[in-house]
Amino acid sequence: MNKKPLLNSAEARRLAKEHGTPLYVYRKNIIQKAFRLLHGSIPFPRTKVFYACKANAHAGILKVLKQEGACIEAVSIGEVRAALSAGFPASRISYTCSNISLEELLAVMKTGVRVHLDSLNQIAWWGEAKPNSKISIRVNRGFGAGENPHIVTGGKESKFGIYYTDLPEAIRIASRYRLKIVGLQQHIGSNIFDPHTYLKGVRLMLSTATRFPELEFVDFGGGFGIPYRPEQKPLDVRRLGNETAAIFSEFCRNRGKTLELAIEPGRYLVAEAGALLAQVVDIKKTPGHTFVGINTGFNHLIRPAFYGSYHHVFNLSNPKGRNELVNIVGNICESSDFFVKRRALPKARLRDLLLFADAGAYGYAMSSDYNLREKPKEILI
Ligand SMILES: Cc1ncc(COP(=O)(O)O)c(C=O)c1O
Repeated sequence: MNKKPLLNSAEARRLAKEHGTPLYVYRKNIIQKAFRLLHGSIPFPRTKVFYACKANAHAGILKVLKQEGACIEAVSIGEVRAALSAGFPASRISYTCSNISLEELLAVMKTGVRVHLDSLNQIAWWGEAKPNSKISIRVNRGFGAGENPHIVTGGKESKFGIYYTDLPEAIRIASRYRLKIVGLQQHIGSNIFDPHTYLKGVRLMLSTATRFPELEFVDFGGGFGIPYRPEQKPLDVRRLGNETAAIFSEFCRNRGKTLELAIEPGRYLVAEAGALLAQVVDIKKTPGHTFVGINTGFNHLIRPAFYGSYHHVFNLSNPKGRNELVNIVGNICESSDFFVKRRALPKARLRDLLLFADAGAYGYAMSSDYNLREKPKEILI
């Protein structure tokens, strides 16, 4: 697949002039398109899409997704509050988090959002505070997947959820407090491409779900991948959606009850809708290496330094320039501050505008003011 830049050169120049760089730019219509495609790919009547707003909690993006009919998946009390202030009612927000304090759990409980309890302790705390109520639990089915080991969230080595061999104990604790387990949730990992991998997670979860007679919903989490590299094929969401719906429909038929099917996409809805625009501010050479220095750093887009992730780069000022093997590096005082290592790109010159593609998810959301450099601006167009 040939990647297209989110902005053309004239737009980039205009936005850079108006807002300065570095600048995160998000396109509303791409978010809408992704939401409609994913939601429309699951032919099951009671499907709910919870946007995992950890990917990008920009208020304008929350508003767009609210209008589309999305719900919100939050992983902190801060995200719950962001969703509430964006106008999502508590009934359209879910929360799951590992290693939280009793105080945070009680604060979230007060908001009335759907909570997926993540440990045996959390079940007991909930039962003490609110016996006789309905709960949902996050399950680690012993299976995880993801683009790289840093983003796998299931399996023995993962801290997330209640490991499935502990479920009998979870049921005992719940019954001690007369809690009804009405929901199960899992999230096996992120940037998954192979529908079979996701479907394996779905099947495993449903084999566990048979032990829970009072279920009202099952939430299969997020993890839907996007093609960061030009040679990657997009995830076949239609196939994934059809098969998930078929498996879940059969499960519901066997139960004689139509449960709710929930998913929690983050990256899939916003990654391709966003890009980071930056400017070349310095160029250096050492024997065998060219370093293109830009006015941003890993504090603004950490994925390459953190996970070795790939972001496609467009030189919008010199798109037809002769290819040069370069490293693109930032202005943070760390040698791991790089965006690109030894990649052939059109020759970069001082003041050229570079666009980092697919930066709408886990870009600004993971940014910091490390080195006391301000966070970048963001705009939604
Ligand atoms: C509980 C939970 N749900 C959903 C997601 C969204 O994942 P993704 O952005 O890969 O769809 C995450 C991300 O790690 C998560 O932790």
